Amino acid sequence: MAAETVALRSIPTAPPSPPDTAKHSQATSLAGERQSASLPLHSKKNLLKSYPLPPQNGIKSVQAQDVKTPDNHVERDPRLIRLTGVHPLNCEAPLTDLYSEGFLTSENLHFVRNHGHVPVCEDEEILDWTFSIEGMVQHPFTLSVQDLIESYEQATYPVTLVCAGNRRKEQNIVRKSKGFSWGPAGLSTALWTGVPIGNLLAQAKPIRGARYVCFEGADKLPNGYYGTSVKLNWCLNADKGIMVAHRMNGHALHPDHGKPVRIIIPGQIGGRSVKWLRRIIVTKEPSDNWYHIYDNRVLPTMITPEASADLPNTWKDENYAIYDLNTNSAICFPQHDEMAALDGNQRTYKVRGYAYSGGGKRITRLEVTLDKGRSWRLASINYPEDQYRNAPDGDELYGGKMDMWWRETCFCWCFWELEIPMTQLADASDIMIRAMDEGLMTQPRDMYWSVLGMMNNPWYRLVIHKED
Ligand code: MTE
Repeated sequence: MAAETVALRSIPTAPPSPPDTAKHSQATSLAGERQSASLPLHSKKNLLKSYPLPPQNGIKSVQAQDVKTPDNHVERDPRLIRLTGVHPLNCEAPLTDLYSEGFLTSENLHFVRNHGHVPVCEDEEILDWTFSIEGMVQHPFTLSVQDLIESYEQATYPVTLVCAGNRRKEQNIVRKSKGFSWGPAGLSTALWTGVPIGNLLAQAKPIRGARYVCFEGADKLPNGYYGTSVKLNWCLNADKGIMVAHRMNGHALHPDHGKPVRIIIPGQIGGRSVKWLRRIIVTKEPSDNWYHIYDNRVLPTMITPEASADLPNTWKDENYAIYDLNTNSAICFPQHDEMAALDGNQRTYKVRGYAYSGGGKRITRLEVTLDKGRSWRLASINYPEDQYRNAPDGDELYGGKMDMWWRETCFCWCFWELEIPMTQLADASDIMIRAMDEGLMTQPRDMYWSVLGMMNNPWYRLVIHKED
């Protein structure tokens, strides 16, 4: 008799109901350190074995499809899945590859969201790259990357960046949005090194009435330079961890990730973390940059792609701009089309995946259902970020202090797993999961469809298909 198998197919969730409508010092040679970009780097102690470190696997080279594009200077990993054709590059890693790399993602597999071309910055130009701090400040100034590294205390910590479009494919299946189809791998975690932005702003001294900080990149796009803004008080709050970063996983930034300098905003959608930083502008109002207004918003669900062009005031309403991430999770194993034999030796299957929340909030539970939400079981959760949080005073990584013990906020994804008897999987028609954070924000059962297809976070569903 042929063995009965269970095909576990990760079909995107269709919602149950349709949408109603520092200090300079000599470079230290570190194990695995790429030597191409010689940035000043100091490592007080050799701590590289004490903390989870980024994988260095994968080989990058200029890919054939990039040769005839403005990105012909950028080396990329061929495993990345391109989501918008050849150019600009928007890509995610195969989900299981991303999961298998562990807590930290190598720069090879880190997702990329580029609105246009990647600005050129040769290795020998890194230290001379400048950006300004201007607008409503008493002391505007321009800073080079060398100044940033030499004159300010450096910090290193892990941050999970998540594109607001993560899991958008599920929205597009229900109803086409204006965005391209991200799977569930539109997120990645890296060790970022740089200067807390509050330290730079303290020097510039914002003046009374200032409320926002705008960021602008060097990528000139059809609608101007890419730019956006966040609130000034978030930048001044060290707990928020907003950083001007010049190192990723101990290396100079990869061109796709902002070489030579970018903003990193933990707990918020990736769209606010401006790459190839040129200007920091303190203002009274939110950014009027085209990309701040027409991107990274969750508009009311009745606004459709057809109607949306006529509604400038709706688009401009800052109430619909999104900042903090919402609670979200995905199943990574079983992977799509994985086969499991029911009459084999395997008695249980370890279902595994990731979860995250926003605004620094920690995931406190992950629940799994095999009967469409009638009953739930609890998965165990692992937060590798805690190893950095518990770093002793004075520990440094890649030249940046890891003093995060005082911070109540949580900036990274976590992992969860649950053993399920194979017989129970065989009886079920799907596996669904939902996460909850410390503020009791849980993932909804139903999808909130919106015109840009952002922040999609209903229960994640994996369909079980039985074959003889
Ligand atoms: N910054 C600039 N200058 N240009 C961009 O196109 N894309 C933003 C943000 N910063 C973007 C940018 C978006 S939408 C995201 S999700 C993140 O960068 C992605 O960062 P990554 O490509 O390093 O993963």
